[in-house]
Amino acid sequence: MDCFRITGGVRLLGRVRASGSKNAALPIMAAALLVDGPITLKRVPDLADVNTLALLLGQLGVEVKRDSDGNLRIATVDPTPTKADYDLVRRMRASFCVLGPLVAKRGRGVVSLPGGCNIGTRPVDLHLAGLSALGAEVRIEHGYVIAAAKRLRGADINLRGPFGPTVTGTANVMSAATLAVGRTVIRGAATEPEIVDLGNFLIAMGAQIFGLGTETIEIIGVDELQPTQYRIIPDRIEVGTLLLAGAITGGCVTVEEARPGHLAAVLAALAATGADIDCRADNVTVRAAGRPRPTNIRARPYPGVPTDLQAQFMALLSLSTGESLISDSVFADRFMQVAELNRLGARIKRSGSSATVRGVRELSGASVMASDLRASAALVLAGLAAERETIVRRIYHLDRGYQRLEQKLAELGARILRERDQEAFLPARHLVGPQLVR
Ligand code: EPZ
Repeated sequence: MDCFRITGGVRLLGRVRASGSKNAALPIMAAALLVDGPITLKRVPDLADVNTLALLLGQLGVEVKRDSDGNLRIATVDPTPTKADYDLVRRMRASFCVLGPLVAKRGRGVVSLPGGCNIGTRPVDLHLAGLSALGAEVRIEHGYVIAAAKRLRGADINLRGPFGPTVTGTANVMSAATLAVGRTVIRGAATEPEIVDLGNFLIAMGAQIFGLGTETIEIIGVDELQPTQYRIIPDRIEVGTLLLAGAITGGCVTVEEARPGHLAAVLAALAATGADIDCRADNVTVRAAGRPRPTNIRARPYPGVPTDLQAQFMALLSLSTGESLISDSVFADRFMQVAELNRLGARIKRSGSSATVRGVRELSGASVMASDLRASAALVLAGLAAERETIVRRIYHLDRGYQRLEQKLAELGARILRERDQEAFLPARHLVGPQLVR
């Protein structure tokens, strides 16, 4: 296992380039099942999650290769497999996005239920209701979802759940509907830029989709889609994380290949803390001005502040000059970062689906444990600002969604090293505590 060794207190300065969007690339890779390929995808980030999905697609008879230009080339070599194994789906829940394309293209999909994770129970009831509405026969056996249909039929579907729209649920149903007979209307659809990107990819393959970016998406089914090549949008969550790294260290950071239009609520929240924001067509600059001012953050579906940046904002606001209230209306339990930020000297008190952050003048370095992808990013940001040294352990969580984050931060002047985590391999006898009775 690896860890990050961070020496805090360095103001980040300079320019850094964002990678492609993980949450656009994953459903787009899954949608490649809808054609026999070859498909070329550009700007797909080099991430653990992308590699996991590539392995899963391989199990489904789809070859995924990265060419010499770093583009992903995807081609179906065997259209018969229909089962996605538990072992891979449990590692990366977005694998569940293969279900809709499998049913639409191969008439059957057998995909392990993804189970929960550290940020919540993560149900898939809306995915299944949407596919059933399209005429798939859906049942659950031994932890697997089995969905089958000779040919899907268009339907009028509402995908809004108790916590708002479902992003990957919209991806699953929209992808499946492209090959259904007739017209499908998805109401309560997710409006995230990643869903728009998936829709544009499907249109590039010949799908007929209208209303992308709104809560009502209309799809007119076609008999067949054609292979294409497509460039993934930049990762707005990585852009936000890098801008927050600039802000928390009192620096000045420009993130290139950013889409300011995807980050309006994030930039407004950053400006509310007193940071100076400068937006250009394809880059954003944040210039911090001393300690951040307190502000309240309510993570919500797009176009609100994304839940995937809630923990990173919490790290910034732990150093503010006052008290902030942070709530998450998407994942009520997404506060794994609180305990570890408090170990760095923050003063955060959780209550239900919100947390009160009382700003402190400084954080002090410590050894902390990453628990999930975005909580890990929050710990890295806090370590960049904390006094002395912070060790962030189990950064395999971080490698799922950030492409060489330590390299990007080091390019901005951060003192951050990736190391093998020696403590992770200590045999039991080194552990402090009651000695084992021989
Ligand atoms: C996507 O997850 C993202 N993942 C998540 O990013 C992101 O946090 C989330 O959307 C919200 O924006 C990918 O795109 C791969 P949802 P998803 O279905 O689709 C409830 C990251 O860090 N719900 O939009 O799984 C659900 O419990 C990851 O990159 C149901 O009730 O999330 C949640 O409260 C983490 N029934 C809300 O809806 C369902 O069938 C939104 O979940 C599905 C979801």
